[in-house]
Formats: sequence, C-alpha cells, structure tokens
Amino acid sequence: MGKDLSHLRETYGERGVDRADLADDPFTQFGRWFEEWRATDPYDATAVALAAAGGEGRPSVRNVLVKGVDHGFVFFTNYQSAKGAELAANPQAALCFGWLDVERQVRVVGPVEQVSVEESDAYFSSRPRGSQVAAVASDQSRVVADRSELERRWAEVEARHPGEVPRPAHWGGYRLVPDELEFWQGRRNRLHDRFRYRRADPIEAGRAWVIERLAP
Ligand SMILES: Cc1cc2nc3c(=O)[nH]c(=O)nc-3n(C[C@H](O)[C@H](O)[C@H](O)COP(=O)(O)O)c2cc1C
Repeated sequence: MGKDLSHLRETYGERGVDRADLADDPFTQFGRWFEEWRATDPYDATAVALAAAGGEGRPSVRNVLVKGVDHGFVFFTNYQSAKGAELAANPQAALCFGWLDVERQVRVVGPVEQVSVEESDAYFSSRPRGSQVAAVASDQSRVVADRSELERRWAEVEARHPGEVPRPAHWGGYRLVPDELEFWQGRRNRLHDRFRYRRADPIEAGRAWVIERLAP
C-alpha cells in the first residue's frame, strides 16, 4: 500500500539572502550560519549527510558528525567500512547539512583525504572510553549474527584494554576540502535563495572564490 504525502506542505519564510549578506570566504559564511543553526538548540548540531560513490558510481549516503571545520570538513570513521572502501576507490564526496528549523541547507563537494595520524590520535583519545572500545570492537559495515555478538566483542575488547585503548590503524579521520559549496535559504512561493561558491583557479580579480546566485 502506497502512502500519499503530497498534502504535507510547509510554507518557507520571508528571510532572504542577498549577495551583500554573504562573506567572501565560504568558511566564514558557514561559521555564521552554523552558529545561527546551533542557537536553535538542535539535538546534534554537527550531524550531516555524507554522500560518496565507489568505483562503480553507485551513490550511497549516511549521516556522520563533523568534528572540525578548518580549510575542510573533518569527520571520523572506520577506513574499512563501506564508505571507507568507496572513498578509497573514488576520493570525492559531498555533504548536505539539512538545517530545516532555520529553513536552510548547505551543500559541500570536493576531494577527500585522510587526516594525519596525529589528528586521528588526538581525536580518538578525546572520545569517551565506551566509544573507543566500540571503534575497536566493531568491524563497521560487516554482517553480524546478532546483538549478543556485538556485545561480546565489546566486552572482550574492554577487558583486553584495562588502561588506554589504542586507536586502531583502520579508524581515523577524513577531511573533505571543498571546491564548491552552496547556501540555500527557503523563501515564499518556492522562490528560494541559492548561492554557490566555486573555488577560483587561478584566483580571479583577487578573489579565491566565485559566488553565483542559482535559480531555485
Ligand atoms: C546522527 C548520526 C551520526 C553519525 N555519525 C557517524 C560518524 O561520525 N562516523 C561514522 O562512522 N558513523 C556515523 N554514523 C553512522 C553512519 O550513518 C553509518 O551507519 C556508518 O558509518 C556505516 O556506514 P557505511 O556502511 O556506509 O560505511 C552516524 C549516524 C547518525 C544517525
């Protein structure tokens, strides 16, 4: 039985975005919008959908948590997971932040690289012990027989490391260094505002990023 959802319809608001409102640098712009999103007290402000496609080009998407934004967007995972295999075959990815409570979306696209082992070590050691144990115990994306198998493995790893839990070499960070970002603001009549930042290569008129308005 299908489910008709066509009557569920929201009206997007009056708050617009103009070119003059935007920072020249997309990371500055991201920071402003991120703080406004965070001020709405969402459950986990750092969650973002991460899309990748392996060698065959079949896309996949899942949520991850962004743990840092510098010249790129950093997230942590298991390098041997499905996403790890995809990113090894095709080191390009996209992020989509769906900040619906503020009627905004931010999209980010670009190449992905593994962060340094020092960065992965530093983040891993900052995690709660239970999460560290889970990172060792879980062969992420592999089939498991049942919940008890997971819990048994977790308990084994926990017992094996009464002190510090060492970071497994296959667990660490990626940094997506964008060459394109898009900031979307919902507007009335679906006439939304969209601005795309494209990395200028070479730098154009002293600007590192070209900013263009896109049709909604
Ligand atoms: C809100 C949220 C945050 C998540 N954060 C992470 C994360 O930071 N790293 C991670 O490996 N998985 C995270 N997950 C789990 C992933 O969505 C996914 O299930 C897992 O990474 C396996 O994906 P894969 O099989 O495509 O590699 C998160 C899930 C949710 C719902």
